[in-house]
Amino acid sequence: PDPRLAKIASSIRVIPDFPKPGIMFQDITTLLLDPEAFKDTIDLFVERYREKNISVVAGVEARGFIFGPPIALAIGAKFVPMRKPNKLPGEVISEEYSLEYGTDTMEMHVGAVQPGDRALVVDDLIATGGTLCAAIKLLERVGANVVECACMIELPELKGRDRLGNKPLFVLVSSDI
Ligand code: PRP
Ligand code: MG
Repeated sequence: PDPRLAKIASSIRVIPDFPKPGIMFQDITTLLLDPEAFKDTIDLFVERYREKNISVVAGVEARGFIFGPPIALAIGAKFVPMRKPNKLPGEVISEEYSLEYGTDTMEMHVGAVQPGDRALVVDDLIATGGTLCAAIKLLERVGANVVECACMIELPELKGRDRLGNKPLFVLVSSDI
């Protein structure tokens, strides 16, 4: 494995029972406090995607907004925010989805992504996979080709990867819950 991964993994803080009992919260804000670990994280994604002809990086609010834009800039792709409901001012399309804790709606601006765009979906973490599935659906509804999903952390016990079907998922760190 890449030697940078151990430092990245150790910079993620785990907080038990947040936001409710039984949830082991994977806190990436401690990674952001370590500029070398943050840079290594972005570099690992950029090294993987720079030659893949990605035309759009879709980042999922909120934590996908931290990792998506630096990747998009480095690989020369546009960045499209996938937002919580009633935040985007233009015409939107929406997908409802179930979350590790609760349910939510995701929205994307109409016209931001074109048919034939090659999309990379970026988020901090995959748990049940519901969030990434909603993002994939929004992108495919407007005719984009979702090349891959990329997350920092996977919680394999929740089998989110299975929910993505044959859509490729790339993660840096796997964590037990
Ligand atoms: C968390 C996390 C992922 C999602 C993963 O986001 O950042 O986006 O849950 O869960 P899933 O795979 O079961 O769908 P959350 O909606 O808690 O909020 P935030 O990113 O706005 O903090
Ligand atoms: Mg999130």
